[in-house]
Amino acid sequence: MPIAEKIAIIGAGKIGQALIKALVSSGYDNIIATARRQITLRNVSKLGVETTQDNDKAVRESVIVILSVKPYHLPNVLREVREESWKNKIVVSLLAGVKTSTLREFMPETEVYRAMPNINALVRKSSTAIASNGQPGPGKVTVERIFRTVGKVYWVPEELLDAWTGLVGSGPAYIAEIVDGLILGALAIGVPRDLAFESILDVLEGTAELLRSTQIHPSQMRDEVTTPGGTTIRGLSVLESESVKAALIKAVEAATQRSREVSVQVDEQVRRMLRGNP
Ligand SMILES: NC(=O)c1ccc[n+]([C@@H]2O[C@H](COP(=O)([O-])OP(=O)(O)OC[C@H]3O[C@@H](n4cnc5c(N)ncnc54)[C@H](OP(=O)(O)O)[C@@H]3O)[C@@H](O)[C@H]2O)c1
Repeated sequence: MPIAEKIAIIGAGKIGQALIKALVSSGYDNIIATARRQITLRNVSKLGVETTQDNDKAVRESVIVILSVKPYHLPNVLREVREESWKNKIVVSLLAGVKTSTLREFMPETEVYRAMPNINALVRKSSTAIASNGQPGPGKVTVERIFRTVGKVYWVPEELLDAWTGLVGSGPAYIAEIVDGLILGALAIGVPRDLAFESILDVLEGTAELLRSTQIHPSQMRDEVTTPGGTTIRGLSVLESESVKAALIKAVEAATQRSREVSVQVDEQVRRMLRGNP
């Protein structure tokens, strides 16, 4: 059941619009969205929601506020919304790197959450991590229901959000690289591109479903399809000699490290801007 309380989407850009589409098609009809440019507002109103440039009005009228501007837009939003308008709201920030403690300084009497969806929200297959400032408050169920409209929800400690970004945020890019590599392999052996594209995605979906439904370990599934002296072991030997698995481990570690560096920079920058020292 969709909640009846009004939801404000502050900054209806790419991710904000993906969320609006999912909410609307899940039956939520009490949404107000903001942006700066008329062109964005016109596009967003075509999704069937109320639009305004007035962030203060949107926050004031709503019970749940989703912040989906870029981190460097945040000082403007906080300047535009009066402090008392945040009072008793449930605020969910999608801003990468900005800590709940930073937001809480500017909205003390507010329940603050951070959510980290990935690009798959566009097809409602996001894995979204949500973190709260300490124990989640009474808004937990509502927040979870909202983000379930774009896929799965996982509650994580806030410290895990950088790892989430390195694994799940960047995950679609890693998988896209693997798909691209397999397509090139397909072309090398003479399989037409369209057929390769479709069949590799079938393999991806089927393997994911099989692993999920059987819950067997990936290495066990690999062993089950690897006949001694057969074809798969020939392919696997190449992956092993090219250190593909080691590269994947390093990729996740490197992306997480970068997310940590960016988070520290972004949070400090936002704090400085909010205190009026750019
Ligand atoms: N894209 C993703 O997959 C993804 C995933 C996880 C988290 N995030 C986070 O989500 C946030 C938004 O990312 P995005 O990719 O959706 O960015 P985006 O497409 O650039 O959207 C940002 C929106 O904010 C609006 N905006 C800027 N200043 C504003 C203000 N003062 N008041 C109201 N609206 C304002 C912009 O309006 P105009 O269009 O009118 O300029 C734009 O529509 C970022 O903080 C990012 O870290 C994104």
